[in-house]
Amino acid sequence: MKKLIALAVFALVLTSCGNEKKETKKKIHAVSTEVKKTTEEAKKTEEVKEVAEVKSEAAKGKELFTSKGCVACHQVDTKVVGPALKNIAKTYADKKGNIFDFLRGKSNAIVDTDPAQVAIMKANITGMLKDMKDDEIKAVVDYITSTAK
Ligand code: HEC
Repeated sequence: MKKLIALAVFALVLTSCGNEKKETKKKIHAVSTEVKKTTEEAKKTEEVKEVAEVKSEAAKGKELFTSKGCVACHQVDTKVVGPALKNIAKTYADKKGNIFDFLRGKSNAIVDTDPAQVAIMKANITGMLKDMKDDEIKAVVDYITSTAK
């Protein structure tokens, strides 16, 4: 479709080289307006799709967060044993941290650095999180991140 439109524009431009008729110019204008419209529509569809995908990833992450038992120590708004998810999301956004790396044991805690607290969470990183697939952890990260919005 896009290729066809590009061809049409090209053909019209070629025609216009030989004769500068108003009619041709009008047509070029109409076609390029059409191209612009189609491109904008495609962009919008893409954006809607992206939002939907992020949403469904976060929903999957929320389920995992509950089924894996993270929710026992982490609530959205309040600190239970571990920090509130909103606090985690905000801190990671502010400090440009990487939650995924933390959950994989590749980076240190930045929200709560109390050694006793870190030890509790460390047990999860070397325990249940080790058995989770990358895409599962990514979904959990999307969920945590989504709580700040
Ligand atoms: C037994 C309680 C407990 C469970 C279960 C638990 N956490 Fe934690 N979590 C903590 C504590 C305590 C901290 C604070 C220490 C720290 O930040 O490392 C923490 C911190 C975190 C942090 C912030 C790390 C930082 O930079 O400070 C993230 C992200 C996190 N947990 C994710 C998870 C996920 C995902 C799960 C489930 C797979 C989970 N937690 C399960 C207790 C728990």
